[in-house]
Amino acid sequence: MTTAFDPIDLGGRRLPNRIVMAPMTRSRAYGPGLSPTASTAAYYAQRASAGLIVTEGTQPSAGGQGYPDTPGLHSAEQVAGWRRVTDAVHEAGGRIFVQLMHTGRIGHRSLLPDGLRPVAPSPVRAKGSVWTAAGPQEFEEPAELDESGIARIVAEHAAAARNAVAAGFDGVEVHAANGYLAHQFLAPNTNRRTDGWGGTPEGRARFAAEVVRAVADAIGAERTGLRISPGNTLGDIDEPDPEPAYLALLRALEPVGPGYLHVVESGDRALTLELRKRFPGVLVLNARASGRHNGPQELALVEDGTADMVSYGTLFVANPDLPARLRNGGPYNTADRATYYGGDDRGYTDYPALGG
Ligand SMILES: Cc1cc2nc3c(=O)[nH]c(=O)nc-3n(C[C@H](O)[C@H](O)[C@H](O)COP(=O)(O)O)c2cc1C
Repeated sequence: MTTAFDPIDLGGRRLPNRIVMAPMTRSRAYGPGLSPTASTAAYYAQRASAGLIVTEGTQPSAGGQGYPDTPGLHSAEQVAGWRRVTDAVHEAGGRIFVQLMHTGRIGHRSLLPDGLRPVAPSPVRAKGSVWTAAGPQEFEEPAELDESGIARIVAEHAAAARNAVAAGFDGVEVHAANGYLAHQFLAPNTNRRTDGWGGTPEGRARFAAEVVRAVADAIGAERTGLRISPGNTLGDIDEPDPEPAYLALLRALEPVGPGYLHVVESGDRALTLELRKRFPGVLVLNARASGRHNGPQELALVEDGTADMVSYGTLFVANPDLPARLRNGGPYNTADRATYYGGDDRGYTDYPALGG
């Protein structure tokens, strides 16, 4: 029987276990021009025993930022900052992909350079509020992207992927989950377009597919992963019947062949199994059972063949040596939600390792 503690090949690379650190925004890019700091390098290096680390959502361009103090990967300063992170992780024996996250309508113009405003497939405002430097503010109506705007953002992802390689990353995860831009294209309530970028499941899947294709062309398909969250309602998304668009997305990606698919499950195990059946690469599962965070129970998903790898968010915040603890049967530190986003090293680099 395969267990989560067995190695696996991903993109021609051997990972020592099947436990993934899930991408988690920490809003601490206090280095020059929204670049990561020495603390960020220490935080990820502490977690290098993960089979694979996926970084916090990182904007591929200034216009893709939706939260304060999130890092980018579109300037020389940012590449240099991330280089310190990847070096630290590699020296600690780990492997690290960067998650490229364009937040689309989930943002606010006060977070963007002058003259820019949040963009989306259609001018549909999200319910709720966004956290800005001035506190919470209502979401605003996003600007509808035109053909050239879409082409520009796809190209920005490819450029950021090349920067990722220059910064020493082992690969890139395209974020098409959790209500951000690519998910806004996939979902019918946020994509009202009738042109080639909407209207049908294929049309709605096209943007995510084009971004993955552009990234794969830039750095190689084996180094390219994709994160999706069918049916997930984050960011005011409503997908009453998600399957057709996600199957269309996988069909569009058949000729591309990305290395892994990272599924954030929203309770629909049958859909996960359908996606697994149709995706030839590595399937990473973030099971998100309702009412609790992922825990040791999810290791069984590798044993019973539901997934090739499992990812953990919250447990990795608080347990830098999570694979050893999972193997041991615990114990587990508890994550402090108050220090998730922003702040100093408290709740960031000070969670103890076993015996530490
Ligand atoms: C503090 C925090 C920040 C997160 N930021 C991101 C992010 O940047 N990108 C993303 O895809 N998911 C993000 N997530 C979602 C996690 O990747 C994961 O799907 C979620 O926490 C559920 O897994 P868990 O039960 O193991 O925590 C975040 C979660 C947390 C707790």
